Amino acid sequence: MKKEYTVLSNGVKMPNLAFGTFKVNEGDDVQIILDAINVGYRHFDTAAFYNTEEALGKAIKKSGIPREEFFITTKVWKTCMGYEGAKKSFEESLEKLDMDYVDLLLIHWPRPDEKSDWKKLDIETWKAFEEIYKEGRAKAIGVSNFLNHHMQNILDNCEVVPMVNQIEFHPGYIQKDVVDFDKEHGIVVEAWSPLGRERVFKDELLNKLAQKYGKSVAQICLAFALQMDVVPLPKSSSAERMKQNMDIDFELEKEDFEKIVNMEEMGWSGLDPDKFQ
Ligand code: A2P
Repeated sequence: MKKEYTVLSNGVKMPNLAFGTFKVNEGDDVQIILDAINVGYRHFDTAAFYNTEEALGKAIKKSGIPREEFFITTKVWKTCMGYEGAKKSFEESLEKLDMDYVDLLLIHWPRPDEKSDWKKLDIETWKAFEEIYKEGRAKAIGVSNFLNHHMQNILDNCEVVPMVNQIEFHPGYIQKDVVDFDKEHGIVVEAWSPLGRERVFKDELLNKLAQKYGKSVAQICLAFALQMDVVPLPKSSSAERMKQNMDIDFELEKEDFEKIVNMEEMGWSGLDPDKFQ
């Protein structure tokens, strides 16, 4: 990869490409994560909700590689928001991971449901995060799926500015207003579903670009994210595709990059942080 790390606003170095563990437990989770470690991934993204924390902890132990060489992210789920809930969830995550710190701790979604006072809940959750951060048990803290009005609430009411916002981001759904706002505030954006869960793989433009650069559509998506200064978290269950996804040694020409920026909206998951079905 051209640039190995992104430096967060507090100086913490975050490897530029992560392995997403959502749904790895649909297969042999420990083995899939071990494969990713063997291929070279050192940045792993999990969450209390994914039920993959235990497997991640086990795979890291099994690899024999020191904990300090990894960058581990976990998240607090909607049902555990608020000061006490967040603290409890964090302790449970550490226990499952079998670790004494995480590198990054995120609020998974800004609103648990339609009825709750999300502004208050986010602030209370964030207060717990600030304490955990000051204790050194999370090297960095941030949020996920926050639109600008959710982020503004934290900025207006809290002391520590989030270091990261993890959002859905892929060609066809780049949430440019969120990316721009976060960048202005020194907040690093991470991309979940950077390959659009394959929903964008048949797109004509992306296929043309893949042909032009002699790369796969997945690699075009990942190069695009990195060129936007967005840290992608691709998932794969195959060692070969894991390797391919790490091998992003090229850049898109400006004109091609712009074409992706201006693609029509497509491949959105439909998950809106303010709407509930
Ligand atoms: P697989 O596990 O069979 O590799 P996202 O990260 O956007 O959520 O997308 C994950 C999906 O993309 C998975 O279905 C995964 O399937 C597939 N995938 C991951 N990497 C590649 C790749 N390099 N080429 C094709 N499909 C990929």
